[in-house]
Amino acid sequence: MNQIDKTWGPQSWRSKPILQQPNYPCKESLVKVCEELSSMPPLVTAREVLQLREELANVAAGKGFLLQGGDCAESFSEFSDEHIRSVVQVLLQMAVTLTYSGKCPVVKIGRLAGQFAKPRSADLESVDGVELPSYRGDSVNGSDFDEASRVPDPQRLLSSYNQSAITLNLLRALTGGGYAGLRNVKEWNRAAMLNPELAKTYGAMAERIHESLDFMEACGLPLESFSSMNSTALYTSHEALLLDYEETMLRKNGAEWFNLSAHMLWIGERTRQLDHAHVEFFRGIENPVGVKVGPTATAADVAGLCDLLDPECIPGKLILITRIGAEGSFEKLRELFTMVKESGREVIWICDPMHGNTVKSTSGYKTRKFDAIFTEVQNFFRAHKAAGTWPGGLHLEMTGKDVTECTGGAINVQDEDLNQRYETPCDPRLNAAQSLELAYLVASELKNF
Ligand code: PEP
Ligand code: CO
Repeated sequence: MNQIDKTWGPQSWRSKPILQQPNYPCKESLVKVCEELSSMPPLVTAREVLQLREELANVAAGKGFLLQGGDCAESFSEFSDEHIRSVVQVLLQMAVTLTYSGKCPVVKIGRLAGQFAKPRSADLESVDGVELPSYRGDSVNGSDFDEASRVPDPQRLLSSYNQSAITLNLLRALTGGGYAGLRNVKEWNRAAMLNPELAKTYGAMAERIHESLDFMEACGLPLESFSSMNSTALYTSHEALLLDYEETMLRKNGAEWFNLSAHMLWIGERTRQLDHAHVEFFRGIENPVGVKVGPTATAADVAGLCDLLDPECIPGKLILITRIGAEGSFEKLRELFTMVKESGREVIWICDPMHGNTVKSTSGYKTRKFDAIFTEVQNFFRAHKAAGTWPGGLHLEMTGKDVTECTGGAINVQDEDLNQRYETPCDPRLNAAQSLELAYLVASELKNF
């Protein structure tokens, strides 16, 4: 695409208006850090990116489901073996549930290994009359509410790159080293300690999977030679917000440009203006790209995004991530799905039921209600049914840990429980039990679609 449009280049975004960027006090140190990053090896390869695009082409064709999930923001302090494993486990557990109960192959993408930068609704945060610049994610500044922490520091970009590389190293070991093979299905049960009922349902399914494998082996099928017995693909993604950083990860492969900071990247709700820098940057890369589509997005906005980001209509290239909020989402979604379908395009639609359903609890925490989350998912499925389009997937903020950040679900977290284990530096995540419960509910929507 970029060969045809001569005006695109790795730096063409620099001449466009740009929102949500840090205001670095020392531009020279930013330039130095970026030079250093540009000389580093990339985090993923073009081959892997194209492999993902191929798998996503199946999703676009209605023959697969995309599960994308992880923390709202990764952080430097919450960085451990246990933290990464817990997200991987719950993703594997949800994916096998969707595949088994929903009867649909699942492509897995983590909000992982690079999800460090956050757009904010306000530039300043005020606490007890003191105003400081907002926290913008660990790749920009610190979350502590003091003046020094909130100064944007370019060295943090190097730390994010390093943490992403270490995270990817473990991800590759976990997904390629036997742990993610189907014979280990019982071991991924993160919800066991939280919701015994759900753990039992999952355990019984895992048992049936084992028995099916035993049966196939007894029939003489050489199961060990199938790749899913030993490994699985878990791709990485993040919001490509900081374009100084993202530019350093561009690499040319043949005639084409890839952003090798992650396999898939997305543009957030606040930076998707058609004539702004983010859309300009994204339109030149070969990666599958996502865009958040919020309640104010018009049909013309969405049509413009499709034309700019996927002018050649490449299957698996464009992922529209809707985040409308439960209320009113059916009508809005039906209108958008219908419009894109009538334009002759086959994009991937996935539902982010998190970001339109954030509320302040009576106890003062930023939270989300499980029921509102599931209602938006149901509306997403209903609207696809009505429009004759395919519900391509789910985009979640979730963790494999036992946190209390979202209310409700079968484990029934209450407003007054939120303070027990509210650990997110940003948005509230579904915990392991709530995530698995949602996977079962979505599997049932999928099976009946
Ligand atoms: C996010 O995904 O964390 C996010 C900030 O989403 P949105 O751009 O949809 O608000
Ligand atoms: Co978020």
